[in-house]
Amino acid sequence: MKILITGASGFIGSHLTQAMLKQGHQVMACVRNVNALPAASKLTIIKVDFTHDHSSSDWLPRLNGIDLVINCVGIIQQTGSQSFEALHTAAPIALFDASVTAGVKQVIQISALGAEADAISQYHRTKQQADAHLMSLPLNWNILLPSIVYGTGAKSMALFRAVASLPLIPLIDKGDQAIQPIHIDDVIRVVEAIIADDNIQQQRFELVGPQAITFKQLYSQLRPWLGLGRARFISLPYTLALIAGRSAGFLPQTPINKDSVQMLRNGNTADVEPLIKQFSFTPMSFEQSLQNAPAQQADRWHAGLYFLKPLLRLSIAFLWIFTAIVSCFFYPVDSSYAMLAMVGISGIWASFILYGAAAVDLVIGIALLLSYRIRLVGIIQISIILLYMLVITLSLAEQWLHPFGPISKNIPLLMAISIMLVLERKQWTTKP
Ligand SMILES: NC(=O)c1ccc[n+]([C@@H]2O[C@H](COP(=O)([O-])OP(=O)(O)OC[C@H]3O[C@@H](n4cnc5c(N)ncnc54)[C@H](OP(=O)(O)O)[C@@H]3O)[C@@H](O)[C@H]2O)c1
Repeated sequence: MKILITGASGFIGSHLTQAMLKQGHQVMACVRNVNALPAASKLTIIKVDFTHDHSSSDWLPRLNGIDLVINCVGIIQQTGSQSFEALHTAAPIALFDASVTAGVKQVIQISALGAEADAISQYHRTKQQADAHLMSLPLNWNILLPSIVYGTGAKSMALFRAVASLPLIPLIDKGDQAIQPIHIDDVIRVVEAIIADDNIQQQRFELVGPQAITFKQLYSQLRPWLGLGRARFISLPYTLALIAGRSAGFLPQTPINKDSVQMLRNGNTADVEPLIKQFSFTPMSFEQSLQNAPAQQADRWHAGLYFLKPLLRLSIAFLWIFTAIVSCFFYPVDSSYAMLAMVGISGIWASFILYGAAAVDLVIGIALLLSYRIRLVGIIQISIILLYMLVITLSLAEQWLHPFGPISKNIPLLMAISIMLVLERKQWTTKP
């Protein structure tokens, strides 16, 4: 079978791509970054962009000879042109319409549990609009509505693990909102069963694990799994959690926002029996999955570094911005000029260097705040610090012996910037 998978670089899409290839299918993986997937035989990788591809004519050439389309694109947070409307509704509708025209035999849409027309979150409503459109089309469609999906690479579970690793775990109210996590292997099992059975057509399946579990229980199970001590909780009233979510939503690259807080509060559960009846297997329980796959060092590091990663970037941004402000407005200018004179800079050059350096510090700080060109900005920071250390070492070597360590403190700062560069890296390539 020739299968087109959108969102093939994502958590669910990449697992599905591997599973389909293992089954011997030919896969056309649709991704934004063609280097995001390793090459494999029977795998074609093409570039698509759901922010633009809103017309059937964008999709028709890609659907030539395709038997099955699986749509796995989705976002939890809107940023810039990455809107729910574009990614969850406009592009999928264009893809589904083109599938009818191209004679694609089957479409599987990965929607989400709770995707209803009257859902409170725009995330769910925009997904429902695409689902409703697909249901109106004359083809073999199936819509999967998963609760939280977990397994290697799962983003929601990564957040929950990070929260579980906090010394004080915040709960919305009493943390008794329930979810019903399902393992990625079980999601794949369902997709494989649908592909194998032509009689499974035009159905919506709620994909949930065997038991509902409250957030308090989830964190209590994750903590020992991460090798951490007893969980301590702090209860946040819903309104406060909503304000926190709203504020976090303004930060780039955060899965925490108003919608996600609203979704968490409402819980995300369904009856598992129809799934068991239709597919003749019981999905794995969350507890069982933790026992099957003990945490590795990488899991512990990821959980522990999750919130430290943005804090590291923000603290380095603060350092540069604060230095710029202090050197321009608070530190006595005469003392600055005296220091510059000690390294041989005086006159007009002293003002130029003093205010020019402050401007560079400010620009670096703002770029870090906005996560703009982090790699380039990181290299510039390292170069400036090394240059500064070299100049001071050559002209004012005694500063190395200063008890406050104005030079030696740069060594851990260089390491902190290097760690930030590793943690903040966005683009990974699979090509040598
Ligand atoms: N994981 C869950 O717990 C869960 C639960 C319920 C429903 N779902 C739904 O299942 C689907 C897949 O979820 P996931 O967990 O696999 O999410 P994910 O890991 O965030 O993957 C999302 C995929 O969408 C792609 N994408 C984002 N913006 C795009 C754009 N403008 N054009 C083309 N592709 C774009 C991403 O590509 P890049 O790699 O380039 O960013 C990535 O491949 C989503 O619709 C999600 O809402 C997931």
